[in-house]
Amino acid sequence: MTTHAEIVGWGKYVPNKVLTNHDLEKMLETSDEWIRTRTGICERRIASPKETSATMATKAAFAAIEVADLSPGKIDLILTATSTPDHLMPSTASLVQDAIGATNAGAMDINAACSGFVYALAMGSGSIAGGIHRNVLVIGADTMSRVMDYTDRGTSVLFGDGAGAVVLRATNKATGMLASALGSDGSGADLLWIPAGGAKHPASTETVQNRMHYLRMNGNEVYRFAVNVMAKASLQVIKDAGLDLEDIELVIPHQANIRIIQSAAKALKIPIEKIFTNVDRYGNTSAASVPIALCEAIEQARIKTGDHIVLVAFGAGLTWAATAIQWGMPALPPHLPWWRSMLHRFRGQEAAAKSLARRTSRKIPR
Ligand code: UT7
Repeated sequence: MTTHAEIVGWGKYVPNKVLTNHDLEKMLETSDEWIRTRTGICERRIASPKETSATMATKAAFAAIEVADLSPGKIDLILTATSTPDHLMPSTASLVQDAIGATNAGAMDINAACSGFVYALAMGSGSIAGGIHRNVLVIGADTMSRVMDYTDRGTSVLFGDGAGAVVLRATNKATGMLASALGSDGSGADLLWIPAGGAKHPASTETVQNRMHYLRMNGNEVYRFAVNVMAKASLQVIKDAGLDLEDIELVIPHQANIRIIQSAAKALKIPIEKIFTNVDRYGNTSAASVPIALCEAIEQARIKTGDHIVLVAFGAGLTWAATAIQWGMPALPPHLPWWRSMLHRFRGQEAAAKSLARRTSRKIPR
């Protein structure tokens, strides 16, 4: 019998702090009008000083495992897609694993920039279909505000912070993840990048003075690339899944720019009503953008059991990724008895408290 992977839990977290276009007008030579008409963005969320990709990912993960009604000990693998990890090492996934008490899980990060979550979904479902794992937690989390140069109006108005997560579970039903397509063109590496902080340009006075730890982008080139690959990758997974365009009820694209999304819809020849967008409220949250949008599509009852949906993204690398899914779950989370949700929270808080206590009491050998 063939094993499939299906999404059985989902959750998101966005920081409370809202940075509006009007706030940016006070910081930069820009205008609400320019940002709205060129990007469709009205506001974005910004992490508090205490929040990081790992803390946001942890909150999204707790929400997802609660919907999946899964005990953290049953998670086999945690994949965190991020290009703003808390540290170069260890992985953000390992920090999440500890914080949620997933004591039996392997953990690693995947860096495919804004395409990362769709990449991680493909990897997670592959490991389930191959019989290696049964429950995989897939997260997209990014703290883009930490790598923004708030003197650069060409980039800093675009990005925001957040996290989204799903639980993939093995099933014998022919449903769930149907087909995935992943791509990369590294010849465009310097069109969207953070030049310093890695092995090539480790942190130095010079890299800091030259603002090389901030994201840099050639917006026009990335725009052209994005429109081209979004339609191509979506059509490929629709075909590979044995579907026609008319079978697709909803496309959830990476939320970078409303004009990119509209152009991709036109190229795909799909009505704009079938495309989910929330870029106006969150801006571009990089790897978090697709899972946050997926959660909101579910919350807004835009996905029903049996629907065929496509997730599609593009980003630094340059990379692109798409996946076709048949939604197997009831769209709204099953009603959990109050004590079970309390138990999840308690387990999580207990695990987080233990981990903190361990860290603070640990003696560092000299
Ligand atoms: O996850 C992937 C991340 N990246 C992307 O998705 C980015 C893709 N690219 C884009 O979304 C668009 O190219 C941008 C939104 C970045 C730029 O929009 P555009 O329509 O391509 O504008 P542009 O770069 O051609 O700039 C037009 C003008 C320029 O002024 P001049 O040279 O015509 O005088 C810019 O300096 O707009 C100016 N400009 C701004 N003006 C006010 C650029 N940024 C701003 C700004 N506010 N924030």
